[in-house]
Parts: sequence; C-alpha cells; structure tokens
Amino acid sequence: MTIKIFRNFSEIATLSSAHHKNGRRLNHDDLGLIKNGSIVFNQEKILWVGEDRNIPEDYLRKGHAEIDVSGKVCVPEIVDSHTHLVFGGDRSHEYTMRLNGASYEEIANSGGGILNTTKGTNALTRNELLKSAQQRVKTIRSYGVGTIEVKSGYGLSFEKEYELSHIIHDLKNIVRPDVQIINTFMAAHAVPITSPNSYQYMKEVVLPLLDKLGEEQILDCVDIFHEQNYFSHDDVVSLFERAQRWNIRVKIHADEFNDNKGAILAVKHSALSADHLLQTKEDGIIALANSETVATLLPGTGLFLGKPQANARAMLDAGVRVSIASDFNPGSSHCDNLILIASISAPMYKMSQSEMWCAITLNAAHAVGLKNQGAIVEGLKPRFSIFKTDSIDRITYNWGKNLAN
Ligand code: NIG
Ligand code: FE
Repeated sequence: MTIKIFRNFSEIATLSSAHHKNGRRLNHDDLGLIKNGSIVFNQEKILWVGEDRNIPEDYLRKGHAEIDVSGKVCVPEIVDSHTHLVFGGDRSHEYTMRLNGASYEEIANSGGGILNTTKGTNALTRNELLKSAQQRVKTIRSYGVGTIEVKSGYGLSFEKEYELSHIIHDLKNIVRPDVQIINTFMAAHAVPITSPNSYQYMKEVVLPLLDKLGEEQILDCVDIFHEQNYFSHDDVVSLFERAQRWNIRVKIHADEFNDNKGAILAVKHSALSADHLLQTKEDGIIALANSETVATLLPGTGLFLGKPQANARAMLDAGVRVSIASDFNPGSSHCDNLILIASISAPMYKMSQSEMWCAITLNAAHAVGLKNQGAIVEGLKPRFSIFKTDSIDRITYNWGKNLAN
C-alpha cells in the first residue's frame, strides 16, 4: 500500500488527548498542538505523527512520496454532522417575514416552513435534485469539510422520500472518497397535508418505507423531528424500534421549541446524537452526560430564528460530548459554512479553542457513528482538513474568510 508523508506543517492540531478523553472535559492543551509537524500515512490509516525532526529514519529512506506542507495547518477532518441539503424551492421571503415580526412557528402553521419546501422539492426531478445537492456538497467541501451528513425529509410521500434517500445514496457514490456522505432517513420531518395526523403518516408511509430502504441497505441513520405539531413521543419510539430491527443508528431533533424530554428519550434509545437542545433542562443534560449520545448544537438555527441558544457551557461542564453542526436547510439555517458558524458560536457558548475544534471534528464524527476518525493519532483513518495559514488561531479568527487549502 502506498505510503505518503506530509512534511512540515506549521501546526498540527492532533486532538490526541481529546480522543483519549472521549471528547469530554477538555483542557486548553487537549488541542494537542505540534509545531513543524509531519504525518506518515497510507490509504487506510495514520502510521506516525510528530515533529518533522523526529520522523523515523526508515520512512525517509524508502523513497515514499513526500508532500511539502510548510506554512499550512492540519486538523482532523471537519465533519458537518447535520444538514438538510437536498431540497428545491426558495424560502428567502420567510426570512423577511421573520424580520417583520412573524415567528418560525407562525409561518409554518400558515403553510410555509417545511411544507413550503416540500412543494419546491416535489416540483424537481430526481436528476435536478441530485445536481443541486452535488453543487451544495462542492461548496461545503471548498470550506475544508470532508464528511457531511445529509438528511432526506422534504418529499413527505412514499415515492418522493424513496427517491430522496436514493439521491443521497447516488451522491455518496459520486463524491467518495474525497467526501464521505452519511445517508440519514428523515421522512418523519413533518406531517404532509395528505395525512390526518402523525400516527397515520408513520404507519402508512414512514415505517413501511424504512422497511424497504432497510432491506436495500442504503441507510446509515434515521432521524425524526420530535416537536409539538410534528412527531410525538410514541412516533419516536415506533421509529427507533423499527430502525433497531434493521440495525440502523438513530438521531433526533430534540427540545428545539419545547423541553419535551427529547434528550432523555435519545439517551434511552442509545441515539448517536440529540440535536438542537435549545430548551433542554438539567435532567436532559445529566442524562446526556452519562451516555454516549452526542449533544449536537446548531447555533446557526437559534441565530437565524432569533431564538435563545442551547446551554452549551452547562453541558460541557457536566461532561456531555458536545458537537456543533450547520443544520444547513432552506428555512431555519440557510448557512452552509460550518467553520463560520463555529467561529461565531464558540465565544457565544463560552467554549475554549479545544472544545470548539473538538466539536466540529472528533465529536462530530462520533455523532455520525464514525469512531475511527476525528483525531490525528496512529491507527485512525487518515482524514484531515488543511488550511492555507501558519496558525490555527487564524482559521476561526478570520470569521467568514475561507482559508481552506
Ligand atoms: O433542523 N427542525 C426541523 N428541521 C429543520 C428545519 C427545516 C426547515 O425549516 O425547512 C431544522 O431546523
Ligand atoms: Fe435539522
């Protein structure tokens, strides 16, 4: 197997001790910074990392491909663990409506929101949706993000949701191995007008479709919007139990508008992540801290909707594994740039530098079930993000500026 050597990064943030601490209770030096660092790796794994002057002689003598990366910074691959990037239509006017005083819930109740994008999505063909999603992935990749979780959920019928899951599957095959796509089934995103209630929609569309896709083995995760006027506690349980039958890991949109104990439900079902958590109270935080479930915070959504933010500091102090994702979608967070979101939200959340980087690399990888990446440590997968700057500080200090290699 071909061996390559990256020689002389100005800085490498290895996150090695963060990895050993399972991404919790981090100190400032858990960034694991190496100056003038090099990495030896093959296609499958990292073989060695350390200061360039300490590279084992053996690797240098054998004439492996050496790549000069001086003046650049390397971090574990950045992972956007929560996006809804397959959609049609446009909701810019809803943003204006919110500026002019309407709430997200009011807009959704009057036919806007997810149901509005469902119309726009159903108006496009499979190929049109694939092409626009591919373009979005390309843009996200240009910021240095290498793994992207993509949810279905704007079709809201058996046929269109089936198509959306297959579009994500096609996308995955087109962009790999440069970009890894995680295919998440989220037909339980909203109740379509054609169903009288969430129970009927689950029974007639979501669960049978999960069985069909489960048999085809194209899904990585399932997700559900657990919220008033969307999906109930019982709907969540029925989805999670069915996913378990197919050995598919579960995720949940939890406690966004109300503290409906979604975080606790997530822990009970060993979910990979509970996402949003704007309203999660102490009981939910304690449950998360005593679990493997990642708390995925989506600060772009709170900012864009003008809502209060999740209590990130309390979660971090309690020992919760915290991640940050973009929630890129046409309604509540129309921002595809996770690094920009991390730059803005870390000071707002009172996160340290190591907590911020861990939230978009190691813990984000864990949130999508990838336990073999997220740190630059011998034996892990060689997935990195590289930036054209000589100091890690500058990447997020220059908020909104793209420094990706
Ligand atoms: O994560 N909360 C549910 N889904 C999205 C919003 C989707 C939309 O408004 O189109 C979210 O914020
Ligand atoms: Fe979401």
